[in-house]
Amino acid sequence: MRSPKDFFAPLAVGAPDPVREIPPLPSRMIHFFDPSNEKMAAKVPDLAKKVDVLLGNLEDAVRADRKEAARRGLVEIARSTDFGSTQLWTRINSLDSPWVLDDLLTLVTEIGDKLDVIMVPKVEGAQDIHYVDRLLAQLEARAGLTRPLLVHAILETASGVANVEEIAGASPRMQGISLGPADLAASRRMKTTRVGGGHPGYLVRTDPVGDDLNEGRTTYQQDLWHYTVARMVDACAMHGILPYYGPFGDIRDVVACEDQFRNAFLLGCVGTWTLHPVQVDIARRVFSPEPSDVAWARKVIAAMGDGTGAVMIDGKMQDDASVKQCRVVAELADRLAE
Ligand code: GLV
Ligand code: MG
Repeated sequence: MRSPKDFFAPLAVGAPDPVREIPPLPSRMIHFFDPSNEKMAAKVPDLAKKVDVLLGNLEDAVRADRKEAARRGLVEIARSTDFGSTQLWTRINSLDSPWVLDDLLTLVTEIGDKLDVIMVPKVEGAQDIHYVDRLLAQLEARAGLTRPLLVHAILETASGVANVEEIAGASPRMQGISLGPADLAASRRMKTTRVGGGHPGYLVRTDPVGDDLNEGRTTYQQDLWHYTVARMVDACAMHGILPYYGPFGDIRDVVACEDQFRNAFLLGCVGTWTLHPVQVDIARRVFSPEPSDVAWARKVIAAMGDGTGAVMIDGKMQDDASVKQCRVVAELADRLAE
């Protein structure tokens, strides 16, 4: 697997159409399943054909008395399933839990050759990644693994957000970071009770039209997660790893789900978690660039020649900076078409 570090490699000024290295496999949706749930586990072979990443979840949403069953279930599924080009990830229990040591021991020893990425929840700072990194190195050596496991952090504590830059650069194993809005809301003592998405009370209101304070006023809901997603994207870009939105818990609200995913995509995220098959199609659509945007990007790239100077296209000024944005879109489309 080529390193995700290359995904955000800077574009050389004036270089002739530089081709950046990006991960060969897309990760538009990281689809969660509970390996202790037999009904869900039975659907894995079918799901593996439909998603970019399948993630066997061992942490929250798996009951304490089902932790062992989830771990064993994941080992069995990993051994018995042909994942094709779909990546297999896991979310281990948090580093302060009684289960995490057995999670890592069992998974690396028994299915370390099948797993691509270990997602670590509730990461507080670089020290958490260093701990996992060293442990993985020992377990990989003991198991005779030749391909290093990559690490993905969930940004879901106030300290994690404060330390996001050092987390992103904490180890060459770092593959990416996801926003964890539910735990983060609790950690920050936000007054919400939802898993991701917005809140009708978090809004801006237009001014009144005349003297009547109730006249002609409109409200717009704001994005509760804008600051954190933007900060996470910057930290990931700085260290050449990949940013993701996390869970959207209201499965029925496909409209708000799509809005949240699209905001994350436009801000720079490469994918999201999906918790239900209905969210898989939304994620695929949102995290693949629109054909009209790709066509426009290619037009600008073609018109800009060596990528320097300025041209007018349909009344809009294009220059070295806009062609770089267009390359991001065109290269993503090319990669997804492979
Ligand atoms: C995900 O783990 C979250 O807490 O949102
Ligand atoms: Mg969480």
